[in-house]
Amino acid sequence: MTALPGSPEGTATTGLDSTPVDSRPGTLAELPPLTETTREEARQIMARYPEPRSALLPMLHLVQSVQGYVSPEGVALCAEELGLTKAEVGAVATFYTMYKRRPTGRHLVSVCTNTLCNVLGGQRIFDALAADLGVGHDETTDDGSLTLEHAECLAACDYAPVVTVDYEFYDQQDVDSARELVAALRRGEKPDPTRGAPLTDFRGISRQLAGFTQHPDRAAARAAVDAPMQDEPTLRGVRLAAERGEAAPPLPRRREPEPADRGEPRETVRPTGRTGQTPEEEAADARVAAADTPAEKAGAAEAHPDRGTEYGRRDPGEGPRRGEGTETPATKTPGQAGQGTSIERER
Ligand code: FES
Repeated sequence: MTALPGSPEGTATTGLDSTPVDSRPGTLAELPPLTETTREEARQIMARYPEPRSALLPMLHLVQSVQGYVSPEGVALCAEELGLTKAEVGAVATFYTMYKRRPTGRHLVSVCTNTLCNVLGGQRIFDALAADLGVGHDETTDDGSLTLEHAECLAACDYAPVVTVDYEFYDQQDVDSARELVAALRRGEKPDPTRGAPLTDFRGISRQLAGFTQHPDRAAARAAVDAPMQDEPTLRGVRLAAERGEAAPPLPRRREPEPADRGEPRETVRPTGRTGQTPEEEAADARVAAADTPAEKAGAAEAHPDRGTEYGRRDPGEGPRRGEGTETPATKTPGQAGQGTSIERER
């Protein structure tokens, strides 16, 4: 029997969390079920990848887009479709903070309290919003409109302090502007983000992250993504450097490694598969053939799938061969042959 989504029983089944999920009215009571359409869309995601299990991350976003979090039911669906255990799916879902363990409000408000944002007031913003909303980190307001969370660096330090709503950026916030933003969200408004695409809601952005566009056609999608950018803070450092005539020191030139540095033969011979051997065997034959010295030949033969002593590979237990390891070229002139080391010549 499938445990009720979000019930303590269901939570225990998946191992997602040791605490029961929030069961307040307005959250679990309104959870829509995962339907055959959800399952069909999960299969569409799987079909995008050579290995179906690579689809797990977008599939988790998909179930979040329906139920607002990765429910036990969603974990079970992903596990069934991918042939994984629920524990394996749960291990992934609990690793990433973008996968929520409790039903999320209509909007997810993330306040960056990492170093730069914090220095510029991020914690003050979080504290003010928490006090106004009566919630703490990862908690949802009673009306189900907002979930508030601390966030680590949101990768927008040049616009600090930063708040995101459903992962859309609201840059250079302060306590007052963040309060206004949240009040507008609770009134059902969707203030334009500072840059990037228009605001949707948590389930909507989860659907986009699953790879399903919400826009009716390509033009609408492009227009949304190409929404105005704000680049001055990002480019300020570059402009200051240009004004002062400063430039970064040149990077040291990287020398391309020679084939010999990589332990490869000097010539690459592509296997054809025409000799009745496997391509790997043909490639190994080619490396042996291209080797210049006995030592190189023996080294190349080591990598051969099943050939052995005929390429100079030593039987285990066979003692060292005479002259082995001296790197003596195979194409020595007659006058050089047998000269040995300088010490031997002096004897
Ligand atoms: S520290 Fe806040 S975005 Fe980087």
